[in-house]
Amino acid sequence: MRDEGLLMKEPLPEEERDEATLRPRHMDDFVGQTELKERLAILIEAARQRGESVDHVLFSGPPGLGKTSLAGILAVEMGAHFQATSGPALERPGDLAAVITNLEKGDVLFIDEIHRLPRQVEEVLYPAMEDFQLDIVVGKGPAARSIRLELPPFTLVGATTRVGRVAPPLRDRFGYVARLDYYNSADLARIVVRSAEILSVPVTTDGADAVSYRSRGTPRIANRLLRRVRDYATVRADGVVDEQTALEALRVFEVDDAGLDKVDRAILEAIIGKFGGGPVGLSTLAIAVGEEPETVEDAYEPYLLQEGFIQRTPRGRVATARAYEHLDVPKPEPGGQPTLL
Ligand SMILES: Nc1ncnc2c1ncn2[C@@H]1O[C@H](COP(=O)(O)OP(=O)(O)OP(=O)(O)O)[C@@H](O)[C@H]1O
Ligand SMILES: [Mg+2]
Repeated sequence: MRDEGLLMKEPLPEEERDEATLRPRHMDDFVGQTELKERLAILIEAARQRGESVDHVLFSGPPGLGKTSLAGILAVEMGAHFQATSGPALERPGDLAAVITNLEKGDVLFIDEIHRLPRQVEEVLYPAMEDFQLDIVVGKGPAARSIRLELPPFTLVGATTRVGRVAPPLRDRFGYVARLDYYNSADLARIVVRSAEILSVPVTTDGADAVSYRSRGTPRIANRLLRRVRDYATVRADGVVDEQTALEALRVFEVDDAGLDKVDRAILEAIIGKFGGGPVGLSTLAIAVGEEPETVEDAYEPYLLQEGFIQRTPRGRVATARAYEHLDVPKPEPGGQPTLL
C-alpha cells in the first residue's frame, strides 16, 4: 500500500476504534471553539426550556475538527437519540424515508457529507425539515399516488467539508450554520493532554506542546501524532512523551517543524519544482502528487492556504515566499529560470 503520510483525511482503522474512546461526549469535554459552543449552548438551552427540538444545525469545516463529535454532543445534551447516516448512503428518496420515519420526537438525525445528497433526496428533505412532513410516492405506474406523512419534530444535523457544495435551498433551511476553524496550539495542547490521560500515556507539558505545534490545527491529527509518539516512546525511549522524544518521533514519521507531512511537502515541491511556482490548476497538481483532486482540495489545501504556503488565484495555485523559504529553495526573480528540485 502506498504510504499516505500521517495527515491524510480519512481516519485510520485503529482510529475508528480509538475515536470512540477519545471523542468528547459532553460540551464540557469539547475543547476550544468557544464562540461556537456558546451559540450551541444557547440553542440547546432555549429549545429545552420551550420543550421543543433544537433547530436544524449545519457544521462545516475541514476534516477532523470535530463536526461529528459536536453532532453527538448535541444529542447527548438534549437527551435525544442519535441516528447517523451520510449523503452517499441515501441514494434514493426511499432510503431517506426509511430513516426518517423511524425517528422519534426530538431525535437527532445526523447526515454526514451532506453535500453529497442526491438532488431528488434533497427535495424530499425540504418539507421534512420545514414542516415535518414527508411526501412519498407509493405504487408504480398509473396506480402510483403520493401520500403525506406527518413526522415528529426532529433535529437535522448536517456536516460537510464543502459548504460551497451544499445547495443554497438546503443551506437556508438550517437554523444555524456553524463553521469550525482550525484550533490554536494552546487548545490542541489541551486536547493532547486530555487524550494522553484517556490513553494512559505519560506526557510532559513540553511534550504535549511539541505535538500540538505540529498538528496542523486539527484535533484528529493531534491524536494521531500522539499515538505515533507514544509508539516511539515505548520502543525507543522510556515510555514518557517529553519534548525530545516527541521531536525525534515526529522526525521519524516525517512530520516537519511546520507540521507539514510528506504530501504537504510534495504539493509545495510540485508547484515550485514542476510548475515554476505556479499558477497550476488543481487537477494537474493532484496528478503530480498522486492524490485525488478532492483530497488535495479538502484535506491539504485549506491548511496550506491558511498558513500562507500557497495562494489560490483565478488561474490556479501559486507557491508563496513562505513555501520557498520552508523548502529552503531561493525564489526566482520574475522572468528568471525555473527552479529544479
Ligand atoms: N474540540 C475537541 N476536543 C477534543 N477532541 C476533539 C475535538 N474535536 C475533535 N476531537 C477529536 O478528533 C477526532 C475527530 O473529530 P470528528 O470525527 O468529530 O471530526 P470531523 O470534523 O467529524 O471530521 P470528518 O470531516 O473527517 O468527518 C475525535 O474523535 C476527537 O477525538
Ligand atoms: Mg465526521
